[in-house]
Amino acid sequence: MPVYKTVLLVAACLLVSGVAANTNATATTANAKAIPAAITSAPPSVTPEQDRVSMIAAIRRRFPAPIEDWSLGGASFAPGVAVVPLGGANATNVNDVLAIGKKAWERKFRNGKSMAACFPNGGRLVATTYPQFDSQKQAVVTLESAINACLLLHQEPPIGFRDGLTMGAISAYLRSLSVGQKLNVRVTGPAALSEYASGRHWFTRKLGHQDLACASCHVLAAGQIHDENGRKLGIAPAVGQTLAWPRIEPGGALRSLQQQFQICMRRVGAEPFELGSLEYDRLEFFLAAASTGLPIRPAMPTQ
Ligand code: HEC
Repeated sequence: MPVYKTVLLVAACLLVSGVAANTNATATTANAKAIPAAITSAPPSVTPEQDRVSMIAAIRRRFPAPIEDWSLGGASFAPGVAVVPLGGANATNVNDVLAIGKKAWERKFRNGKSMAACFPNGGRLVATTYPQFDSQKQAVVTLESAINACLLLHQEPPIGFRDGLTMGAISAYLRSLSVGQKLNVRVTGPAALSEYASGRHWFTRKLGHQDLACASCHVLAAGQIHDENGRKLGIAPAVGQTLAWPRIEPGGALRSLQQQFQICMRRVGAEPFELGSLEYDRLEFFLAAASTGLPIRPAMPTQ
């Protein structure tokens, strides 16, 4: 039996001790009554910083790699996991993606402005502060939704979150302007804390017919190999997970962080949420707060 199924009950860390049993089969039919108060969307009794520290401690107990390498994804440590090399015939490589993104970033709108008009410093360092809590909207804004807000402001059509070639490439370009800089996602004030708490809830809640929480794998089984129909996949630690996006799939399709959330929810047999849903924006906010202080990395291949 894989470790993440057996160690769940004896988890010592604060966060993981909140991993909740799901009485329903899917995430969307969640029964609020079954969830212990500590991990509902009520503000958690621990701070985001305490969560971060306890997750790091729990991961370190099992996974010896230095924390700077945690954002390199599962393939970086899993022996026998081969990453499909980029840059071969017909494969899109990171530079191609960035060139497409730069072109879209510099494209002139019908009003003569371009994307740079919406972000400070021509977009430099912008990605270090996303996702962020917008106190006017009283909601979490991801980098992708900020890109769409910019387009709408200038009467341009928004881009679908699934449109990897455009949204994926623009977000890859914008993130590339922050590579090497530390992520700085803060949870400030009660409204932001309640968004964070809701993200934390989805991270710690057991989901799907496999009855596993995100934390079951990405905290308790970090550094292990997940065998999926004979395919070996490395399970990377939750801390650092928001830093190297989008991922480039074999063949060149781009995978956003929230598309990865969908893959993982399907993996445990749960009905995934929509890209750009409140649930995923909050989950992303939670994970980014946990990765704060670590440097943003370039887009990289999937496993
Ligand atoms: C059964 C174990 C398991 C569970 C539960 C799980 N994941 Fe994953 N996750 C994986 C594996 C394996 C990968 C490797 C990439 C792939 O092929 O999907 C991965 C990859 C990821 C990544 C990409 C970074 C990386 O390389 O690790 C993110 C982000 C992520 N998962 C988030 C989540 C979230 C959020 C949840 C809860 C909704 C979740 N995962 C639940 C196994 C799991």
